[in-house]
Amino acid sequence: MYSSFRNKHLITTQDWSVEEIDKCINTAARLKEERQLGIYHDHILRAKTFFMLFFEESTRTRNAFEAGVHQLGGHAHFLTPKATQIDHGETPKDTIKVLSRYGEGIGVRKTYGDGTSYMRALAEYSDIPILNMQCDVYHPTQALADLMTIREKFGNDFRGKKFVISWTYGPNYIRPLSMPHSLVLLMTRFGMDVTLAHPKEFSLQPDILDQARANAKAAGVSFTTVHSMKDAVEDAHIVYAKSWGPIMHTTDEKEGLAIIDNYPKGWVVDASMMARAREDAVYMHCMPADRDIEVTSEVLDSPQSVIYDEAENRLHINKALMALTMSNI
Ligand code: CP
Repeated sequence: MYSSFRNKHLITTQDWSVEEIDKCINTAARLKEERQLGIYHDHILRAKTFFMLFFEESTRTRNAFEAGVHQLGGHAHFLTPKATQIDHGETPKDTIKVLSRYGEGIGVRKTYGDGTSYMRALAEYSDIPILNMQCDVYHPTQALADLMTIREKFGNDFRGKKFVISWTYGPNYIRPLSMPHSLVLLMTRFGMDVTLAHPKEFSLQPDILDQARANAKAAGVSFTTVHSMKDAVEDAHIVYAKSWGPIMHTTDEKEGLAIIDNYPKGWVVDASMMARAREDAVYMHCMPADRDIEVTSEVLDSPQSVIYDEAENRLHINKALMALTMSNI
């Protein structure tokens, strides 16, 4: 049960109950529908400020939060370590104590290194909600938008739905584990049968796998790991396929990129791969996608692809999160 969301942090969806996540998605759906009907919501966060602290670049996350707070009547401050005293070593405690005096909420993206512990250090001293805009371990706002998208496509009853999260070949750079982590954690809690597929060097963190197994057990669903994309996608309802780095295997970037290069075959999503899934299956990717490397344009631009719906739902989920945690609605 939930009583109030005011000032509630979101570092991982594991910190929120199923009921709280339901409320968040229902609020997002309502904001989305009402905006489509021409109903404005600029009273909800009128004259309120949301800080956005980015240690790395972003297209979707930044713009969905910035547009979202504007639509709710508030204002966003775009911050980077260099634009603040963080680069000179100002502590998380001093940073957040000061920002808490100026505004009502903050989102933080710190995808590499100590992202999670930095956010937890902020949360310890914060008087305002900390929303994780992606760290080294979690990307909760993307996973929530993905769950909202799945609900739009398949309805509320996820029982018997096969959700596949598969690694893809992605040679350009080492991507974090935050997306596969967040997906196995969230989809197992919502009654889907989850299959994780990756070559052996691309395992996820053991503690996250343990949590996902516990979630699946509690929900009475399956959580399976396989080492073949082809096997994984068989009869899938949802094919979510993207690249991540062999981070649990090596922290050496050069070695990591060489390992990725071993797997161009059998780890790219094309039309023949999607044909193994159900006829009504959807293809998902959080974006940015490496077109014609991870996944063919034929699949990305096909009617089965819901990538732009996912990206749009980032806006509605972020609005719901800010509305719930920064006001008394
Ligand atoms: N999916 C996602 O987080 O996109 P950005 O990196 O562009 O924010």
